[in-house]
Amino acid sequence: MVRRNGSLAGGCFGDYKNAMHVPSLIARKREGEELSALEIELLVNGYMSGEVADYQMSAFGMAVYFKGMSAVETGAMTRAIILSGEVFKHAEGHPKVVDKHSTGGIGDKVSLVLAPLVASAGCRVPMVSGRGLGITGGTLDKLESIPGFRVDLDMDEAAEILARVGVVMMGQTERFCPADKKLYALRDVTGTVPSIALITASIMSKKMAESLDRLVLDVKFGSGAFMKTKADARILADGMISVGKEMGVEVFAVLNEMSEPTGRAVGNALEVIEALECLAGGGPLDLRKVVLDLSEKIAGVSRAELERLLDDGTALKKFRELVEAQGGNVDDLDKLAEIHKAPVIKEIRSGFGGNVTRVDAGTIGQASLELGAGRSKSTDNIDFAVGFDCLIKRGEQVARGDLIGRIHARSQEDAEKAEGAIRRAIEVV
Ligand code: URA
Repeated sequence: MVRRNGSLAGGCFGDYKNAMHVPSLIARKREGEELSALEIELLVNGYMSGEVADYQMSAFGMAVYFKGMSAVETGAMTRAIILSGEVFKHAEGHPKVVDKHSTGGIGDKVSLVLAPLVASAGCRVPMVSGRGLGITGGTLDKLESIPGFRVDLDMDEAAEILARVGVVMMGQTERFCPADKKLYALRDVTGTVPSIALITASIMSKKMAESLDRLVLDVKFGSGAFMKTKADARILADGMISVGKEMGVEVFAVLNEMSEPTGRAVGNALEVIEALECLAGGGPLDLRKVVLDLSEKIAGVSRAELERLLDDGTALKKFRELVEAQGGNVDDLDKLAEIHKAPVIKEIRSGFGGNVTRVDAGTIGQASLELGAGRSKSTDNIDFAVGFDCLIKRGEQVARGDLIGRIHARSQEDAEKAEGAIRRAIEVV
């Protein structure tokens, strides 16, 4: 790890008062002017040192929300966030360092499969992930459903695991992009999270601080995603690609529809169980397809080779090594369904036969959140056991009485409420 402590814009680090007047800078952004890279950098540095106040940064964030930022401004903000902390430093002659970022979806357990798979193909994967918030789940929460698994690693421990196992999956530390943590908390309470420029800087700073060679972006759009339309997903993808390219990283984007959940399971332990099936060469076909589509962009080996690594158990073995390295109990992996058995498991059966034309991700995500699998606010506890599995997929045929999903709930009352949601989410014609 290395402490980066310099100015990209040159010379003025810390001397922001001589270089800018914060109210004028906010007003210029409000009027849609492009600020210089130096001004953006000094603003972020000033915010971190406490010289730029929360109320000023909030006003700036709202101006950006309405007026956007140019590629130069977004790149400068990304760099300033990276330089607020430490970055991964990989030893000379290291294998290709790669990662994936998903803008988040329902039932999205792709990282749990992709990270060990790509590591088993010979790459290094330093994956810094987030927690679930709102209707989308988070990789860290899913991993924590494995008894003992620690995601709160410090940078030195993470570097050691990465060098030894080839993959590490962890949360953001205090020393990793601290400006992002502070800015995100502010955006969260000031209505400025959905700014494409701010999302780009936030995501790309964390990925670029991993010091990658290649990055693949899984940009979701649809009812279960942050971006509701493909056009918005394209704008976000293009912005992230241009920031990555400017920093010398090969960035690929795959746009994936998130109108139905990925796979057949939604909920923390339930998704880990499904990811383990995929790692063992099985699992739902749509999950395997997304994993392969994304992995082949970054792994440097053929799709056929990636399929072999899934089918012959190599990727699963890598995942087990990762679990062990991060304090998890490997023997518990085969017992997760018992360890996290919800008190009520309710089967939902179709009232009539036909073709499944819709399995609405947004409705299922909301129902999963209400069962307790997610958080409405960042301090909420989550319930690893609850959620859905055996969900029917769009395009499948059902007969009257066929199973279309199972609800895992804490109480009968919760299960009944979730049943209403499932019946609304699934359309059979
Ligand atoms: N994820 C992030 O890491 N940052 C954002 O701003 C939005 C989603």
